[in-house]
Amino acid sequence: MTVKTFFYGLIASFGLPWLVMLAVPFSTMRSLEAPQYDEVNDERTDLYQAKRSGRIAVGSLVYGQEGCAMCHSQVTRPTYAGQDVFREGQGGSKKDGERGDTRRITNAWDFAGEERAHIGESRIGPDLGNFGNRLEVLAAKENVKAAEAMGIKLIKEDKSPLTRQEVAAALGDKAFDKELYIYKHLYNPRNEGFEERGREKEWSVCQSNAQFFKKVGDFGQGAKNAVAIVCDQQVVPNDSARALVSYLINLKKDGAVPYSMQYAKDKKKGGK
Ligand code: HEC
Repeated sequence: MTVKTFFYGLIASFGLPWLVMLAVPFSTMRSLEAPQYDEVNDERTDLYQAKRSGRIAVGSLVYGQEGCAMCHSQVTRPTYAGQDVFREGQGGSKKDGERGDTRRITNAWDFAGEERAHIGESRIGPDLGNFGNRLEVLAAKENVKAAEAMGIKLIKEDKSPLTRQEVAAALGDKAFDKELYIYKHLYNPRNEGFEERGREKEWSVCQSNAQFFKKVGDFGQGAKNAVAIVCDQQVVPNDSARALVSYLINLKKDGAVPYSMQYAKDKKKGGK
């Protein structure tokens, strides 16, 4: 082999993949403009752009820093590439009580406002793209159970059922605490006192994140978000944990996309 062919080979094996897998996607993805909703078909005229800022954006950084994306994806693939859309709760919900069918595939704008798009490396853990929604469904279910146990009526006088918010309001302090649920998971995913989950999680390989918690004295009524009491001290989440939990609670990638991005066989252009 001559030196020349060697260098051509080198360029071909490193340069081409770099061009196709890094340079081209980077240059096209970095300048994405938010698509516009269409007045006729969408009945709204604003831009399609997920809003993520403040504590949620900080939480996204913590998520990246802790390597959560090594085990958790945040992508619902198109139907030609996998069955994601059909897994209940992953790509949205088939029967959302308030919005109907919210299932859809993930798109690039779903990561707007995050410094890194945590699409994920593997699926050792469940996909978290719609974790926020799954948590809401779980909270609603647990609240109904608690309300029934406490004898709270779930039907109003005009025979219509109570909404999720009304059930939670009726329960007050006893309502399902979404944040505490995640704190407990982060502190010890194998926590045995996890009745809410309905099944034991002693097999969980999700990492325990004790670095997110600090100990404070156990005084008075106790902290609302304490996950455990160790040696007379309460274990409470620190600022990173609170940012991360804001991020996780808000993980929803099932908002209605503009008509222009939807697939339909005989699609007409907006306004015609
Ligand atoms: C070694 C792989 C691994 C890593 C790293 C990992 N997880 Fe997990 N995670 C899992 C597995 C497996 C499950 C499913 C079992 C369970 O629910 O505990 C899970 C479940 C979860 C759940 C769902 C809990 C529920 O009740 O549905 C959340 C939220 C979560 N992980 C968050 C995180 C966060 C945040 C990080 C980063 C700090 C992280 N995970 C890092 C493997 C991992």
